Amino acid sequence: MKASLLVIHGPNLNLLGSREPEIYGTSTLPLINEQISKRASQLGLDVHCVQTNHEGKIVDLLQKAEHDCKAVILNPAAYTHTSIAIRDAIAAISIPVIEIHLSQISKREPFRHTSLTAPVCTGMISGFGAHGYLLAVEAAALLIK
Ligand code: DQA
Repeated sequence: MKASLLVIHGPNLNLLGSREPEIYGTSTLPLINEQISKRASQLGLDVHCVQTNHEGKIVDLLQKAEHDCKAVILNPAAYTHTSIAIRDAIAAISIPVIEIHLSQISKREPFRHTSLTAPVCTGMISGFGAHGYLLAVEAAALLIK
């Protein structure tokens, strides 16, 4: 049986491709998800990608992932900088969670320098654009095996 990986894309990431392309690049979310699925399949992982604009939905997905998945890749987007609820949900589950950001958050506005979620994640990838998701899939494969 293939190990399963859940990818959660947070708020406004459904707009990738047209949203501030100078910061986030021109790849759309469906294209990124296709590339994630391809890399995951090469690594023998079964992957499910979800996007939501809602904080509580991310909490629900993380809680459920503990039972259904072996690892999570999470871009909490703006909730990275505000959400104690998502941080607590990550801390509450025992599977690895890899945080990912397309942009390099520590070289942007000061309010983006703090990630409330990164300290409870296994690791964080930031600043490699859409390619960062593929690095995250590789990291997840290493952690699962
Ligand atoms: C982001 C960075 C966040 O600061 C921002 O709110 C996002 C996207 C990134 O992927 O670079 O929505 O998580």
